[in-house]
Amino acid sequence: MKALVLAGGKGTRLRPFTHSMPKQLIPVGNKPVLVHCLENIRDIGVTEAGVIVGDGHEQIRALVGDGAALGLSVTYLVQEAPLGLAHAVLTAREYLGGDDFVMYLGDNVLAGGIAEAAAEFRARRPDARLLLAKVADPRQYGVAELGPGGRVLSLAEKPERPRSDLAITGVYFFTPAVHAAVDRIRPSARGELEITDAVRDLLDRGHPVTAGEYRGYWRDTGSVDELLDCNRAVLDGVRPGLHGQVDAHSRIVGPVVVEPDARIVRSHITGPAVIGAAALVTDSRVGAYSAIGRGCTLTMAGIADSIVLDGASISEMSGLTRSLIGRGATVAGGAGGHSSRLLVGDDAGVEVTAS
Ligand code: DAU
Repeated sequence: MKALVLAGGKGTRLRPFTHSMPKQLIPVGNKPVLVHCLENIRDIGVTEAGVIVGDGHEQIRALVGDGAALGLSVTYLVQEAPLGLAHAVLTAREYLGGDDFVMYLGDNVLAGGIAEAAAEFRARRPDARLLLAKVADPRQYGVAELGPGGRVLSLAEKPERPRSDLAITGVYFFTPAVHAAVDRIRPSARGELEITDAVRDLLDRGHPVTAGEYRGYWRDTGSVDELLDCNRAVLDGVRPGLHGQVDAHSRIVGPVVVEPDARIVRSHITGPAVIGAAALVTDSRVGAYSAIGRGCTLTMAGIADSIVLDGASISEMSGLTRSLIGRGATVAGGAGGHSSRLLVGDDAGVEVTAS
């Protein structure tokens, strides 16, 4: 079995962050979402992964390289434009050849891995196997209706009147039968070749299509709030370890990772939290569910439940929560600076003066 990982697309809902980086590279728990995907793929024993890329492919290549560091052999497949998930399968056809494959949307986080679904697929080898999850508003997802024995009864992409509350998550297992289905479908109303339509085509022609409910934590990281929720879920599973320096005036409470060469000076860190390699945290309070990137500088800062990307600096600013601070951004408060929430793109400079 091979893997097909989708890391193209536009990420319009995550601007300004996606102006300067592909959305799949935004970190949760200090690790890019795409790396979480590739690790889950490696963990089911797949070694060959094709990665669909579009704009921003240089950053993805720079991070993942040939995949060896992750135990994978990665081949990049350039999609001319984001013309749909089934178009990505078409783009990868030659690479996939006659192999079964797991298709994994590179902006999805499945914190419990995909071992159970992979075992189900390998045991029965239906032409398509989907992972489903109950959601409050199914209208923004593909929606499946599930019958007895895990058989799929109906499928619809972002329906106005969903027939169930079961969303299709971003992991699909296929046999090569899907290629003929991709050939038969036409672009949807939003102009994309939808994978949901290809799976429905298989269903309509009597091919076995099965699904199961995903038991672990799943989110599609399409918005900042979803990213922050994923960050919390990933940090909940963090294995604590103090690899940097923590001075005698600092306090660490709960599961905290301090990565190598990071320094914590006169600060309080409450886990679950991660402080990235070579970060410097001075006279600050880092609260639960914070992921502070590599090389960040926090000085007289107070932050919780937030993601700070590599190389950002925050000074004299307390009360930050549910915030996302871009790579290399500078946030300066001045004496008494206080803010509840900031979303700051890469390399931006923000000064919040106390009133
Ligand atoms: O997240 C689950 C949902 O993903 C499913 O419930 C839907 O049925 C499925 O259509 C898909 O919906 P989205 O509208 O959320 O897909 P999105 O456009 O966000 O693309 C998903 C990933 O695939 C993302 O990492 C970008 C990448 N992509 C997307 C397109 C359209 C590509 O690489 N190429 C593309 O052409």
